[in-house]
Amino acid sequence: MEHLNDIRKKISDLVIHYSNIKYAKKNFTPGFDKVQVSGKVLDHDETVNMVDAALDGHLTTGRFNIEFEKKLSRFLNTRSLLTVNSGSSANLIAFSSLTSPKLGSRAIKPGDEVITVAAGFPTTINPILLYKAIPVFVDVKMGNYNIDEERIERAITKKTKAIMLAHTLGNPFNLSTIIKICKKYNLWLVEDSCDALGSKFNGQNVGTFGDFGTLSFYPAHHITMGEGGAVFTNNIKLKKIAESIRDWGRDCFCAPGKDNSCGRRFCWKLGNLPDGYDHKYIYSNLGFNLKITDMQAACGLGQLKKLNNFIKKRNYNFNYLLKKFGSLEEFFILPEKTINSEPSWFGFPLTIRDNRYFNRNELIKYLEHKNIHSRLLFAGNVLKQPYMIGQTYRVSGTLENTEKILFDTFWLGVFPGLEIQMLDYVIDSISEYILFKKK
Ligand SMILES: Cc1ncc(COP(=O)(O)O)c(C=O)c1O
Repeated sequence: MEHLNDIRKKISDLVIHYSNIKYAKKNFTPGFDKVQVSGKVLDHDETVNMVDAALDGHLTTGRFNIEFEKKLSRFLNTRSLLTVNSGSSANLIAFSSLTSPKLGSRAIKPGDEVITVAAGFPTTINPILLYKAIPVFVDVKMGNYNIDEERIERAITKKTKAIMLAHTLGNPFNLSTIIKICKKYNLWLVEDSCDALGSKFNGQNVGTFGDFGTLSFYPAHHITMGEGGAVFTNNIKLKKIAESIRDWGRDCFCAPGKDNSCGRRFCWKLGNLPDGYDHKYIYSNLGFNLKITDMQAACGLGQLKKLNNFIKKRNYNFNYLLKKFGSLEEFFILPEKTINSEPSWFGFPLTIRDNRYFNRNELIKYLEHKNIHSRLLFAGNVLKQPYMIGQTYRVSGTLENTEKILFDTFWLGVFPGLEIQMLDYVIDSISEYILFKKK
């Protein structure tokens, strides 16, 4: 009978052959082919791994996940990293961990305040609302789209327990000031790094400064596994809480398919449970099940091989656009990286300056018609979103930049699947549009 490993080898060779054809570079025809804003960049690394994971038949997290978590922790230089099924789940776990009674008086409770911004993605702030804490919105800076750090201290009250913010479009927020504020007022910091894998501040990876960092592996992001994410921390106590919350809230920490890792499976006495209640079924946190499958991890592992090149290409594309848009500065506020940072750009944000020739909606509709995709800065001003009606929150100061973003900001793609020919087409199309409007 044919040996299983020999069959695997044949399958793998065939998958490589298939992938090389399927993912071969295609010629770009301006106007006909879409210029996407983001997208997955795959080759045989991912397909071979995913098929391998399918043939393992393990399905829940296994060898691929172990390797993925190890390699990504090493890349980020963090003590612990847990995969989860989305960036939103990563934010949920990070925040809910900070509400754990295990943290004593530092646990975030209903009515406590959390400083954040309104110009961003909703699931950065949704966990705050879910746990009945109060998001306190501070304005952002125009051009770098991150919190205006000068305004943070004015927003702090006796109720403030945490700061939870995203590094907008890969541009790190001012970590030196924010870490100082967190230390001074004893605040937790959650760095939503979903759009910022590989971004650095003072040479250190974002996400590793605060108490938790989070990542998304949805296809738009720096690396993908279809759906997926990660939550990471250098604090081992927080890691244990986060892991438990990810895994149903259980007290037991056995890997899937394993038993009695603690060696005391039937010897525990916790809560009001009877003596010796099976540790597998003891729940010490209010948890969920937010794990991934090994096939997702297998895809992620293929992507990790390419991560450094992805970051280089994203930044190359960003800088190319920045240079070319220099001639259009009269019409657009160009993106600005934060001081002391090395962003790993997620997108190229532009804000239209007040002018009498065109507005954002007209421009992005025109771009769509030219097959050029663009995106808004997510929720724009989240306070204006339908789901926020009736929610409890506070605004500190004014949100005039956030309001301008709602009306006038959009972003273009820089992802590694974009070639110079495509970027030139984007710039030429926008220049032509402005010339036409000015006539
Ligand atoms: C800043 C930010 N946080 C969180 C998320 C949520 O990630 P996911 O789509 O994996 O849930 C996103 C999604 O793009 C995001 O941009």
